Amino acid sequence: MPSPIDDSLQARISPECPQETRDILYHAWGHDRSGLKKLLNERGKASIQDPKTGETPLHAAIRACGPADEPTEGEEEDEGEDGSVEEATEVIRDLFLHGAIWNDVDVNNETPGCVAHRLGRKALYNLCVDAGVRAELLFALMDGYEELSSGEEEEDEDADEVMKEQEEEAAAAAAAEEAKPQDAEEPLKFIPPDANEIPVTSEEYLKSKLTYDDDKLLDSDLNGVMMAWETDIMRRSVAALIPEAAQRQGKRVLNIGFGMGIIDGMFADLKPSKHHIIEAHPAVLEHIAKPDSKFGSEWEKSGPEEGAYKVFAGKWQDVVLQLLEQGELYDAIYFDTFGEDYSQLRTFFMEHVPGLLDQEGRFSFFNGLGADRRICYDVYTRVVEMHCADAGLDVEWDEIDVDMEKLDEDGEGEWKGVRRRYWTLDKYRLPVCTFMG
Ligand SMILES: C[S@@+](CC[C@H](N)C(=O)[O-])C[C@H]1O[C@@H](n2cnc3c(N)ncnc32)[C@H](O)[C@@H]1O
Repeated sequence: MPSPIDDSLQARISPECPQETRDILYHAWGHDRSGLKKLLNERGKASIQDPKTGETPLHAAIRACGPADEPTEGEEEDEGEDGSVEEATEVIRDLFLHGAIWNDVDVNNETPGCVAHRLGRKALYNLCVDAGVRAELLFALMDGYEELSSGEEEEDEDADEVMKEQEEEAAAAAAAEEAKPQDAEEPLKFIPPDANEIPVTSEEYLKSKLTYDDDKLLDSDLNGVMMAWETDIMRRSVAALIPEAAQRQGKRVLNIGFGMGIIDGMFADLKPSKHHIIEAHPAVLEHIAKPDSKFGSEWEKSGPEEGAYKVFAGKWQDVVLQLLEQGELYDAIYFDTFGEDYSQLRTFFMEHVPGLLDQEGRFSFFNGLGADRRICYDVYTRVVEMHCADAGLDVEWDEIDVDMEKLDEDGEGEWKGVRRRYWTLDKYRLPVCTFMG
């Protein structure tokens, strides 16, 4: 059991903390708004960190409120009798305005929002979620802006709009710079606990060796590509995409990412009129082609017409262009890849779902975005909703329980032999996207 976190001022602002950082942290902790503002005059000051504890001014302003009392009936959570939450709210807003980073972690691997959540400070937690949503939307905008500026710019674009985008881009770039792991050579800088964690990239993943066993598919770094504990999520996803009343109607299905074939097995049981699978990894394709596979050439031949049941080998980024060209339409589309970030999923549903999904169809995806941290999960939920709306899609979230008994501890239970616990939450938000009415 990890030892309980000591949230005292003495524990959080270390003796090693340089005076300038200490001053800012003390003012944040004391919710001294005017004193703090004077110290935030330079860029980056709102995100300074105690070199030992990783405390940022946001952590300090939140932690200083202490744990919330259990709300009595009819009372709002966070109604701090001493008004500390109101003061903290103002300070937190000031810090965000001065460029404070919403997701810096401290030595306990907690972001400011994680601290707020643990202390039951819902209003402060929501401020952090709002800041996360703003930051993620800016990052997304920045990607688009870079693409725009490398080609011909829209001439009729409003000049003010462009200026605003440039400012937002600069702010996001500064945030990205601040969020980079710290230089290990500098002894006075805080090094986050996960600084050595190397994110999986799609290119490397698609070249890596894979290992299948009965209950998981691992890459060569022992990352869990797919695990059997997700079976219930797959079952619920199929039910949400093809409701029971429609299950005998022979729906047209597209699944992106075969993995262990769990969801494809479930789709196949419904005898779809069309069942297309896109898979990019050579080892997964080899697995599919084995004589005992359910999705080999016999399955392809068993479709109601030629090409109705088919595994498309290749990256979805290439294959969907072919499908669009062929004029394929689907009643149900599921997207669950590996080694790709949110921008890929966003590209898929913003650029391709509108052309591939029947007007009455449904789209869903494996919602593991940010699932190793509640606040990231909440941020992505909101960001996805906004981007879906931009693509003309409504999202409904079906919240389902995840049995955490064997998922609660790193390296134990289901995670035995798996490098990273990518799921930590007891609720899964299953997205069901449909075209706006
Ligand atoms: C998490 S697994 C899918 C699990 C699947 N839903 C199931 O029920 O077993 C992800 C799959 O996506 C594949 N994949 C990753 N990137 C891809 C890409 N760009 N195009 C197509 N498939 C991809 C992986 O090789 C892997 O087989």
